[in-house]
Amino acid sequence: MAEINQAPLTMTAVEIARPGGPEVLRPARRPVPTPGSGEILIEVHAAGINRPDILQRQGNYPPPPGASDIPGLEVAGRVSAIGENVQGWTIGAPVCALLAGGGYAEFTAAPVEQCLPIPAGLSMSEAAAIPETLFTCWTNLVDGGHLKSGETVLIHGGSSGIGTMGIQLSKALGARVIVTAGSPAKCAACLELGADLAIDYKAEDFVKGVKAATGGRGADLVLDMIGGDYVRRNIEAMAPGGRHISIATQAGSEAMIPIFRIMQKRLILTGSTLRARSPAEKGAIAKALFREVWPLIAAGRVLPRIHAAFPLAEAAQAHRMLEEGLHVGKIVLTTR
Ligand SMILES: NC(=O)c1ccc[n+]([C@@H]2O[C@H](COP(=O)([O-])OP(=O)(O)OC[C@H]3O[C@@H](n4cnc5c(N)ncnc54)[C@H](OP(=O)(O)O)[C@@H]3O)[C@@H](O)[C@H]2O)c1
Repeated sequence: MAEINQAPLTMTAVEIARPGGPEVLRPARRPVPTPGSGEILIEVHAAGINRPDILQRQGNYPPPPGASDIPGLEVAGRVSAIGENVQGWTIGAPVCALLAGGGYAEFTAAPVEQCLPIPAGLSMSEAAAIPETLFTCWTNLVDGGHLKSGETVLIHGGSSGIGTMGIQLSKALGARVIVTAGSPAKCAACLELGADLAIDYKAEDFVKGVKAATGGRGADLVLDMIGGDYVRRNIEAMAPGGRHISIATQAGSEAMIPIFRIMQKRLILTGSTLRARSPAEKGAIAKALFREVWPLIAAGRVLPRIHAAFPLAEAAQAHRMLEEGLHVGKIVLTTR
């Protein structure tokens, strides 16, 4: 049975007025969503910012069918109302959720499969910073990449939101972690987070660096958010039987690849997107995270790194900071 919705009728949300730069992000009044069957209404305390939000704002990453046009892929807050066919949640409970959109708002509705209790010890801002990175890292490093203890993983963009989480998760899984990052300061931050080696890709060829660090063998797994020419170079930097996981194409969505090297090394090239997957698929990842990663968070072994927090109405400023690219970890919006 659905519980009575105590939420107000309208809320502040940040909408994308038209495709463009950060200035098109505009606070507006919107109706508070009504949770549908299988959904929870969340009073949002904090929302994470992700690179895909920038692409959406620019008009290059439309929300999947049925998703809110308001940006925002992750939130933390308190349960405000409960839709039909939802068990196990109570009004007021702290919750964090992965969304297909709608996070830059005072309230948002989320499929219950994508909701998780806030891990012990995390603030609302920290909890808002984990769903997108952890769902992405888990499904790519573990489900798709089959990362095993003792293997070497190469993570590009080590200082990104995804990278900072990928480093810690990979270390917790017993892997050796090599990252690339674009400055000495970012490399130092990655080492502090547990990376075994951080290569400043602007100063050093990462292929040579990976080969030197692995006795010429290469990396067993590559988590690639760069694409373009990096794919060919990744293939050179990979060990026999290696897996290459594409999660973004920041340097280009097409690549020329040496097919014979793939055959010689028996490589697997795959990739994934998260946003358009069904609540059931996301729910399967959520269950694995709750079982395997929530204890690591509670033990302090895997923690979000917050670079900055902005009030919701200053989402444009937060996007400017992300695009400037000097951040290490996550930028979040707060509503209170
Ligand atoms: N497939 C999925 O399901 C999925 C889900 C979430 C996110 N993503 C993708 O994952 C990436 C990271 O997301 P985020 O929110 O963590 O973004 P972010 O913090 O803005 O990170 C972007 C990173 O890319 C690095 N980078 C950009 N161009 C580069 C280049 N030419 N060579 C090497 N590194 C480069 C930057 O490192 P430097 O500043 O050091 O250059 C930066 O660390 C984004 O591309 C996003 O679209 C994919």
